[in-house]
Amino acid sequence: MNFSTPVRASRLNLSSLLADFTPNTHTWSRLKAALSVITLGGNLLWCMCVTSSLLSFFFFLQVECGDADLSDAEKVYAECSQKRPLPWEECILPQRMKQCVKIGEGTFGEVFSTTNTSGDTVALKIIPLEGTEQVNGEDQKTFGEILHEIIISKELSSLKEKQQNQTHGFIGLIDLHCVQGCYPADFLNAWDTFDQQKGSENDRPDFFEKDQLFIILEFEFGGIDLENSNGTLASLGVAKSILHQVTAALAVAEQELHFEHRDLHWGNVLVKTTKEKKGSFLLNGATNSLETKGVLVRIIDYSLSRLEIDDLTVSCDISKDEELFMGQGDYQFDIYRLMRQENGNNWSNYHPHTNVLWLHYLCSKLISMKYRGSGGRGAKDIRLELTRFYDNVLQYSSATEALEKCPLFQ
Ligand SMILES: Nc1ncnc2c1ncn2[C@@H]1O[C@H](COP(=O)(O)OP(=O)(O)OP(=O)(O)O)[C@@H](O)[C@H]1O
Ligand SMILES: [Mg+2]
Repeated sequence: MNFSTPVRASRLNLSSLLADFTPNTHTWSRLKAALSVITLGGNLLWCMCVTSSLLSFFFFLQVECGDADLSDAEKVYAECSQKRPLPWEECILPQRMKQCVKIGEGTFGEVFSTTNTSGDTVALKIIPLEGTEQVNGEDQKTFGEILHEIIISKELSSLKEKQQNQTHGFIGLIDLHCVQGCYPADFLNAWDTFDQQKGSENDRPDFFEKDQLFIILEFEFGGIDLENSNGTLASLGVAKSILHQVTAALAVAEQELHFEHRDLHWGNVLVKTTKEKKGSFLLNGATNSLETKGVLVRIIDYSLSRLEIDDLTVSCDISKDEELFMGQGDYQFDIYRLMRQENGNNWSNYHPHTNVLWLHYLCSKLISMKYRGSGGRGAKDIRLELTRFYDNVLQYSSATEALEKCPLFQ
């Protein structure tokens, strides 16, 4: 059974939105904050402009008005702190390429782990761009379409630094690159190893010509996704903590960004071990803590997600993507139809109950998993609590309300 997101045509509105959008100053500054690059260079200067004196403010306006005329390609290059695409080896040093291991795949991309210059393990999500050749049976993404994933990844990653609504529950975005060239041999070797060990549903990426463009999103390594955890977790306490961490992260993002994930299947929930006993988050200025039970959760994959930056909405119009709504054989596929029922097939408006639908689905997956722990009285009680959550959670209007009212989290 393939549990990944059913294929869909990409219908992102973002590119026209960015081009036609007549911003008020505040909104444009928030949008640019989302689009501003995390690394050094012009963007740092830009940030200083926004926050400093009146003189700088006029400078900022001048610069940003010019920016509104940028093409989607130029916007993506700017995000990558680049003027043009670079050769692969300028962005990923040869010794880092040699260490790479393929860890996952989706319709649009291949994901490899390697280490970065600080020695940390990172995940590189590599997505072909703008080519005419189909990849994995789908058209390649355009620059405009990839801006959607870039903006949302950056906004959610930066929730770990916010003053009022703060969470570490979304995967950290470390860097971005746009490269040009054939797929490097080291990545193809890693691709083959994955294919031999696990089997790949994707096309072997050996057919790209030397003018092919790719975007590389460098993320923090988030652990193993629930779908690939062999249906097994350490204990029911871990399951409860996972549900708590996901609910808290969604609640924080709802409050800060009117965020809906819209595709939170178990391949998009990563789990890694931690020695920290407590995790914390800020919801509307209030500090909250939760028990980690030895695991940290990271939410990934925002291809269908929706958020707002002031009055600018970033969303993906899937209203005409028949296939997405036709899946059968797992509750996951019902969720796409249930979301559509609730929003009347309008995908730009905010319906935080979609987050609750995904929590309901996740809870059913967690209940169905196996647990290595001995069980015993505690385990029985938690199973009962999870079942109650499953029976009751749909009545809440949002992840925020579920977090605040569900007995499971009190
Ligand atoms: N930061 C990360 N850390 C660890 N593993 C990751 C990370 N990002 C992605 N993966 C792995 O790669 C897989 C595919 O990644 P992702 O879901 O982002 O790709 P996708 O192409 O958007 O998939 P989909 O077809 O569901 O849209 C994940 O299920 C996960 O196993
Ligand atoms: Mg995915």
